[in-house]
Amino acid sequence: MTTESVMRTPVVRGLPVVGNALRMGKDPAQFFVDCYRAHGPVFRVRVMGREHAVIAGPEAAEFLGTAEGRECLRSREFWSGLVEEYGATRTLPGEDGPAHKELRDIMRRGYSREAIADRLDEVVAITDRNIEATWRPGATVPVLRSMQALVTDQLGELLTGASRPEYVRDIRLATVYILNVLVTRTRPRVLLRDPRYKRAKRRVAELSGKMIAERAQAGPEAKPAILIDDLLRANRENPAAMPDSDLMISVTGPYVAGLDTVANTISAFVYAVLKHPGVLERVRAEADELFRKGSITEKDLRGIPAIRGALMETMRLYPIAVVQMRTATRDFTFQGHCIAAGETIYIGTSVPHFLEEFFPDPMKFDIDRYEKPRAEHMRAGAYSPYGRGQHVCLGKTLADVQMLVTMARMFHRLDLRLESADYVLARNSVPTPGPALSFKVKVAGLRNQGSPHSGNEA
Ligand code: HEM
Repeated sequence: MTTESVMRTPVVRGLPVVGNALRMGKDPAQFFVDCYRAHGPVFRVRVMGREHAVIAGPEAAEFLGTAEGRECLRSREFWSGLVEEYGATRTLPGEDGPAHKELRDIMRRGYSREAIADRLDEVVAITDRNIEATWRPGATVPVLRSMQALVTDQLGELLTGASRPEYVRDIRLATVYILNVLVTRTRPRVLLRDPRYKRAKRRVAELSGKMIAERAQAGPEAKPAILIDDLLRANRENPAAMPDSDLMISVTGPYVAGLDTVANTISAFVYAVLKHPGVLERVRAEADELFRKGSITEKDLRGIPAIRGALMETMRLYPIAVVQMRTATRDFTFQGHCIAAGETIYIGTSVPHFLEEFFPDPMKFDIDRYEKPRAEHMRAGAYSPYGRGQHVCLGKTLADVQMLVTMARMFHRLDLRLESADYVLARNSVPTPGPALSFKVKVAGLRNQGSPHSGNEA
């Protein structure tokens, strides 16, 4: 690209000092779609006195996966605050190139399809356990809080060997501060002095110490082999790659990466399905069929297109990762605009989710978009709920399975109702976009009992 053809990059108008922070915070997905429509695929936004380049749309999503994208973008700056705060040397999302590959290889098996495939009945049992505890007939349930407890229970058991309910609040609080103050930096550092954060940080350190000690005691042959075993093995056999200092953020990583993301997504799923009675009917029918024979296998999950379509549609319309954040490693041009070395860049991968040219009638919750011949998500750059490129979500298979099984189980067992038919979801965007804590549903009754194998007969 010649210098003459480099275009002036538009700056989105905003308020003094806060810049675009308020509009962006109110509805981040809509904000980036509106800017893309008004300014095209490259523009700049201002947040609290700092300017950031934004590249958005299908080409930007594709760019993340190209060799040039890998070369021009790095993640380090966004994660360095977390690394420093926790006395570590590095973390998976903050590394690029060979160091990133080394860490990803250590963790790959623990997050893989194989690691979760034999454990679906366990996911069901944990879901049942939470249903018995919280989702009782007649109760009005705060959805997001209850999903956070459920997901902590599941991730703890699946990836670290034990459920940790007594730490849910600490993990949540530490995660909120980590994401707001240290990663996205939308809140000032002074908040790290907040005694509530300091206590949560201490408790999370205590939790990771416990997890490591318990698992080390179980020994390297403990079954089933889980993520924490691979982290401990790497620490023993290749301490340069996984030093003691990095174990804490590595063993608690699944919570930072998986708790809000999954809890927000399945809370939005509950809303979207209850809001569409035709979808609810299909989801229930599939869920009842899925659990008809008791135990389920991964193969059974291929035969639930309505539940899968509802999940994909939820992730399209309620994306938890609206943009991916990077720094430019060198000057480069994108779509005729110059991005300078050192600039922070937001990559608006969720923008195409809302574009008519990819998803006709884009605001319609239409669970049949994903089956062939429509397969609207298959167009280049159209659909990226799990991000793209080298940092594409490592937990995506696990998350898919976890969310499909959990939602199928809840809709199989529970007759849930919105507080009123005309209820419109209250939403929040900090630290992760999703339903607000005020979102509640009523448990009108039990549709089906818990299965005997889960020990949770209702
Ligand atoms: C609704 C569920 C989830 C969504 C939508 C989601 C989305 C994402 C996205 C967009 C990224 C890429 C961020 C970037 O490029 O900067 C990512 C990375 C990651 N996610 Fe997820 N995630 C989900 C659940 C999970 C779960 C359950 C886990 C593990 C327990 C997990 C583990 C990870 C890890 C380890 C990375 C870092 C990968 C790397 O940097 O190489 N995610 N996720």
